[in-house]
Amino acid sequence: MRVTDQKIAGALLLLSGGAFAQLYPGQSSLNHTCLLQKPLLSCPPQDPTAVDSCCVETFGGLLLSTQFWDTYTGREAEGQLLPTDTWSLHGLWPDFCNGSYTQYCDLTRQYDPIPSPNTTTGTKNGTFVPPYTGPNIGTFLEPFGKIDLLEYMNTYWVAQNQDNPGFWGHEFSKHATCFSTFNTPCYGPKYQKHEEVVDFFETAIKYYKRVPTYKWLKKASITPSNSTTYTYSKIRDVLKKEHGAIPFIGCSGPRYNTTEAGKGSTDNGFTSFSEVWYYDYVYGRPQEGDTVPVDASASYQTNCAKTKNAIHYYKRTKGSEKKPSVPY
Ligand SMILES: *[C@@H]1O[C@H](CO)[C@@H](O)[C@H](O)[C@H]1NC(C)=O
Ligand SMILES: *[C@@H]1O[C@H](CO)[C@@H](O)[C@H](O)[C@H]1NC(C)=O
Ligand SMILES: *[C@@H]1O[C@H](CO)[C@@H](O)[C@H](O)[C@H]1NC(C)=O
Ligand SMILES: *[C@@H]1O[C@H](CO)[C@@H](O)[C@H](O)[C@H]1NC(C)=O
Ligand SMILES: *[C@@H]1O[C@H](CO)[C@@H](O)[C@H](O)[C@H]1NC(C)=O
Ligand SMILES: *[C@@H]1O[C@H](CO)[C@@H](O)[C@H](O)[C@H]1NC(C)=O
Repeated sequence: MRVTDQKIAGALLLLSGGAFAQLYPGQSSLNHTCLLQKPLLSCPPQDPTAVDSCCVETFGGLLLSTQFWDTYTGREAEGQLLPTDTWSLHGLWPDFCNGSYTQYCDLTRQYDPIPSPNTTTGTKNGTFVPPYTGPNIGTFLEPFGKIDLLEYMNTYWVAQNQDNPGFWGHEFSKHATCFSTFNTPCYGPKYQKHEEVVDFFETAIKYYKRVPTYKWLKKASITPSNSTTYTYSKIRDVLKKEHGAIPFIGCSGPRYNTTEAGKGSTDNGFTSFSEVWYYDYVYGRPQEGDTVPVDASASYQTNCAKTKNAIHYYKRTKGSEKKPSVPY
């Protein structure tokens, strides 16, 4: 079913006005039976006046499946621990095909207790994103009986310095509300409240399961160590081979040339390996997962130091992890 031109024009107007409303306020709730349609590729961007934006990711067609390597959670005392021998899930983000992005696209679905940034644009004059104070987003899964999903999320989608559901709420409201395909009208006339939240969590996990970073690196003998160091290009080549495209490889910690090892170097990349973002285009709805791996933008493939053996891939702090109770 095509969305009418008039409705799209309204949506675009709102968007270009620095909108705080959803991307597609005019989407029809009548029918979006996407299986009846040809699954179109999400990038280059589809003409929003010519497609059903519930059936192809129309603005945010460059998908990022993102993961963390944290060494602690800051909430060990509460039993919030990282899964052993596994990178944890960060999120699934809809970037525009050109690499830029929007955030907090629908403030009627604001479930993030600590909005970051605190405005829709990240600038002082953007629309303020009010902190969410209602029941945490994890409780939304209960009416759907998704207890196994909740257990999976508590095992692999682990927050740092925040409770897990607060972080899931952040990921949903900051990023998922910007997908055209997870918009509520896409669920048709039988939409049940929060159905798209469950759908988004399941989809983010579907993508996460396909990119087992820890396992891939381990196969190439790249494992956490507090004595060995690693080289950016080696990590990149392994992940490129496994995923089929170059991901963004993120580091934190001190800059190389501020460390003892990097003294005198001009390499000011960061040295503590902490993130990977895998990029894909997708045919049809992201939920179906018919993806095409793509390289991270040539201008931003890493912020890590590139000098040989400059990167630490630290072992986690003792007591910050536990053996997963459910399989990856
Ligand atoms: C979808 O809904 C529209 C009303 O907006 C209706 O005209 C059309 O026949 C429906 N299409 C299908 C395939 O059911
Ligand atoms: C990227 O694409 C979006 C959506 O089409 C557009 O709004 C934005 O202006 C573009 N940004 C750049 C830097 O071209
Ligand atoms: C948003 O965050 C900035 C930076 O932390 C802060 O200065 C500002 O007061 C916050 N705005 C609101 C409305 O809370
Ligand atoms: C909002 O602030 C940004 C920089 O923080 C500036 O570039 C932009 O022009 C401002 N917009 C308005 C409407 O004042
Ligand atoms: C680190 O490298 C950057 C860029 O090459 C340089 O601007 C900076 O001065 C260096 N810092 C130190 C402490 O050497
Ligand atoms: C390894 O080093 C990191 C960074 O200094 C530290 O946080 C972590 O606790 C260490 N892990 C072990 C097992 O020593």
